[in-house]
Amino acid sequence: MYKIVRKKEIGSKVHNLEIYAPEIAKNAKAGQFVIFRIDEKGERVPLTIVETSLQEGLVRVIFQEVGKSTTHLASLCEGDSIMDFVGPLGHPTVIKYYGTVVAVAGGVGVAELLPVIKGLRIAGNKVITIVGARCKDLIILEDELKQESNALFFTTNDGSCGVKGFVTDVLKEVIDMQKVNIVYAIGPVSMMKAVSELTREKYIETVVSLNPIMLDGTGMCGACRVTVNGKTKFACVSGPEFDAHSIHWDELSSRLNSFKDLEKISCDNFTIRRECKCRKR
Ligand SMILES: Cc1cc2nc3c(=O)[nH]c(=O)nc-3n(C[C@H](O)[C@H](O)[C@H](O)COP(=O)(O)OP(=O)(O)OC[C@H]3O[C@@H](n4cnc5c(N)ncnc54)[C@H](O)[C@@H]3O)c2cc1C
Ligand code: FES
Repeated sequence: MYKIVRKKEIGSKVHNLEIYAPEIAKNAKAGQFVIFRIDEKGERVPLTIVETSLQEGLVRVIFQEVGKSTTHLASLCEGDSIMDFVGPLGHPTVIKYYGTVVAVAGGVGVAELLPVIKGLRIAGNKVITIVGARCKDLIILEDELKQESNALFFTTNDGSCGVKGFVTDVLKEVIDMQKVNIVYAIGPVSMMKAVSELTREKYIETVVSLNPIMLDGTGMCGACRVTVNGKTKFACVSGPEFDAHSIHWDELSSRLNSFKDLEKISCDNFTIRRECKCRKR
């Protein structure tokens, strides 16, 4: 069993958990993820490793409540335990000196970006971070992003924070103003695809971290397959990071959308309601 040592809500339906898992804490690197399962009836859910503490044996994850399992996880309290917490999985990010790196994140992708920019900054890169959210209230980890970036820009759809518009609006300006050696993007598929299209035109190497549906996380089930350079890859074992310009984006979107259609049918038929035990204490 894996104990939840610390828990904090850091945004609207966004939670920060620190879980006691010393073996994972010892081996994890930026860009890797875990798959958790709350109990024997639970689904297997992937989450990125945001940070580890070797001394305390803790693994930090940040997640958004979007469906059944993440809502269930959010209902647990400090001191509760979950049954499985498997990792580190996937290939780590290639951290080295590139020069100027632009790191782009959308939504909760910010949490997944944090360990990457931290590593890139320590490797001596100039890190320019661009974060997009629907509105100001959905921006998380502002202080930590500031600390790890040489420059930090926000974009919001409604203009309530930073530039009104999309991350690609700011990315275009940054690219036009200076030489950028590599772009790293993580977030919704539509956002990563737009970043990829922009940087392809400018011949800038771009790495994206993909979040396809995953089940086993070991390359056996095929749920996470993506087409990269015309070849089938399993994101759990060959990724989750890939060259953005080699990905078949339309196929990836259509696979994610078919999952959403299936989920809508099941939600129309069953109402799932869970109450957070913490709020009762
Ligand atoms: C390698 C990897 C790392 C990830 N890291 C994080 C993280 O650090 N923080 C975080 O909040 N989320 C992360 N995700 C996404 C997270 O795994 C999903 O949000 C989660 O599986 C949803 O489970 P659920 O049962 O709560 O929702 P479900 O009931 O399964 O689905 C609810 C909604 O979420 C969408 N969804 C389901 N699975 C995914 C997915 N894999 N990616 C995007 N949307 C999905 C569905 O389309 C649906 O609309 C990661 C995914 C991958 C593959
Ligand atoms: S999750 Fe099953 S092959 Fe990747």
